[in-house]
Amino acid sequence: MNLSFKDSGIDWEALQEAAAKAMQHAYVPYSKYPVGAAALTDDGRIVSGCNVENASYGLTLCAECSLVSQLRMTGGGKLVAFSCVDGQGNILMPCGRCRQLLHEFRAPGMQLMTVSGIRTMDEVLPDAFGPENLGEPTRTGSGQ
Ligand code: THU
Repeated sequence: MNLSFKDSGIDWEALQEAAAKAMQHAYVPYSKYPVGAAALTDDGRIVSGCNVENASYGLTLCAECSLVSQLRMTGGGKLVAFSCVDGQGNILMPCGRCRQLLHEFRAPGMQLMTVSGIRTMDEVLPDAFGPENLGEPTRTGSGQ
């Protein structure tokens, strides 16, 4: 599925703007590669995040990490639509690890703005490992 802007009913422009705004808060003294991410939640909030690096490089937190933390800290829920940008505000693909992070909190049919248009979470992380493999129920909301 590769939906057009109009078909999706999501304000992708607003999401990309929120991601670019979040990107301004990035802490990237090592890579000098700021990233911002923003997502629409299933109850209509916009959550966002930026990358936060560390002198111990491998401890770097991607923008998606702080987005997921903000999701939990502001009421939980699931992600409906996601957008990620680089320092120029151009669409960036979430790294492999962060696709897994996003998968955990996806709403059914979650969409992502990608370099090849709008795609579903299932398309960017096919046959994913997830909570179901552990026999876990689908979790929603805060405190779960
Ligand atoms: N980065 C993210 O924040 N998200 C991604 O999905 C890709 C990579 C960050 C990590 C690091 O701070 C910088 O981009 C360069 O790898």
